[in-house]
Amino acid sequence: MVTNKRPSERPTSWWLAMLQKRAERMYDEKLDLSQPIEWASEEERSAAVAFFNAAYRAEESGLTQAHQLADEVRAFDPELAECLRLYGDEEGWHRELLTEFLAHIGGEIRPMGRVTGTFYALYGRAERMETIVLTNLMFETIGSTTYRLALRRATHPAVRQMLTILTRDESFHVPLNVHFLRQVLARTSWLARQRLAPLYHLLYASLIASAWASRRRAERFDKIPFAVLSRAYAEHLGRLFVHESDLRLAPSRAILRLFGLRRDELARTDDPSVITVEAAEAAVDRERVQITAL
Ligand SMILES: [Fe+2]
Ligand SMILES: [Fe+2]
Repeated sequence: MVTNKRPSERPTSWWLAMLQKRAERMYDEKLDLSQPIEWASEEERSAAVAFFNAAYRAEESGLTQAHQLADEVRAFDPELAECLRLYGDEEGWHRELLTEFLAHIGGEIRPMGRVTGTFYALYGRAERMETIVLTNLMFETIGSTTYRLALRRATHPAVRQMLTILTRDESFHVPLNVHFLRQVLARTSWLARQRLAPLYHLLYASLIASAWASRRRAERFDKIPFAVLSRAYAEHLGRLFVHESDLRLAPSRAILRLFGLRRDELARTDDPSVITVEAAEAAVDRERVQITAL
């Protein structure tokens, strides 16, 4: 089916059908861990363990928040609640894959560091639905951005397979979360909406800055320099909201300027991290997604 419709213009029933189709075959996809990974150094392996630990925590947090939201939403929108439940299940599946992958590379699930722990503790305490969904959407955006950049640089087949699965699915989760946010905002008061903009700006700046901390731990594995990752976060977190202009959350011009970016340029170009309807439909048949399309 060829359509230029943005995924965000699709109704909840369309997203539910997509998620149900994906769920039918999700557990059939297995990691091929038959070959041991030869690391260039112990530092590279240890950075890979840090990288995939961060991914594990993101999945864990996504799973918990999605299922909690599903329970709250069920009372007024059972169809949306089912979408949230299936979406949480996808994050749960990623968490399982990452557990298996970490064991394969001789890593363990580590306690969170101070910065990450504070981030997730604050996020875990968030109560307002629109706050949770906006935060999650921004996490999904930096997740899919990081995975895509790491995938471009990865060479080992097992690492590439793990990153391909994560990139493909998180790219699907970005427009899905835009849909969640729009549905939740439709029920949010004017006053509560006003509180979202300061949160968006705080997260925008903090997530860009978080690239610094992640470089210390993971750069030896993913080979993404700070300048590249921080600019990519500024660009993708910015472009998403420039395009979804009805959400009325536009990135700071001053921060964009720091990275040589402008709102009008972001508005003109499509974001590869926000997939089209065609890509979302292709992502249902998971093996049809081409790595080059990511
Ligand atoms: Fe995930
Ligand atoms: Fe996700």
